[in-house]
Amino acid sequence: MLKLAILISGRGSNMLALITAIEEQNLHCQIVCVISNKQAQGLDIAKTHGIATKLIARAEYSSKHFHEIAVLKELKKHQPDWIFLAGYMAILSAEFVDKFEGKIINIHPSLLPKFKGLNTHKRALQSGEIRHGTTIHIVTSELDDGPIIAQSELFIMPNETAETLENRVLRKEHILYPLILSSLIKKHLEIKDSEVIWHQIPPGGNKLSSQKNNNSKIVSNTYLKLQNLD
Ligand code: GRF
Repeated sequence: MLKLAILISGRGSNMLALITAIEEQNLHCQIVCVISNKQAQGLDIAKTHGIATKLIARAEYSSKHFHEIAVLKELKKHQPDWIFLAGYMAILSAEFVDKFEGKIINIHPSLLPKFKGLNTHKRALQSGEIRHGTTIHIVTSELDDGPIIAQSELFIMPNETAETLENRVLRKEHILYPLILSSLIKKHLEIKDSEVIWHQIPPGGNKLSSQKNNNSKIVSNTYLKLQNLD
């Protein structure tokens, strides 16, 4: 049974998509804890599904360092195999990431490497993008920069606003994040030493190859791209 920890900061809709997939598809996975760094609606949702939750409020710690120590202590209690970030609004330090190297996964609302950071939908519109979407990647100590596991993309419509785009991207996220979890569980996807290996591509997906990072180092051999999932 795969043990999953989820870190959130807000409404937790991606977390709920993961919970629903586990429940409805009978996935061989237990969410061992949901941790939030602030009061979050997602904590209440997790509780209603009988999942252990913990509020470790950043505001109650004098520094990011001490806050991370508290989060690490809680994670250690539950011994997760994987940590999925689902709207966790904090940048993890290199020390934290090193403790779970290649085991922390994030979902980011843009087609990385475009639009790292915040306000991705507004920035995509302002820069006149034709396509936009969401990316799931391995977390490294660089912000929104680790090896890409999968992307799901859409075409930006005429008269699109940041809000409509956010909603459309969110719908993609709610499909893609559970798909990554189930692919890991079924071993269709392997993540080994921070390398992404797709053994079996889900329907509608294409396998793209050889991403390089800023130093021209190959950081991922393959990743999945899903299109037209509306
Ligand atoms: C999502 O768009 C995710 O990509 C980003 O933060 C948002 C979280 O939304 N990292 P929710 O809390 O899962 O509803």
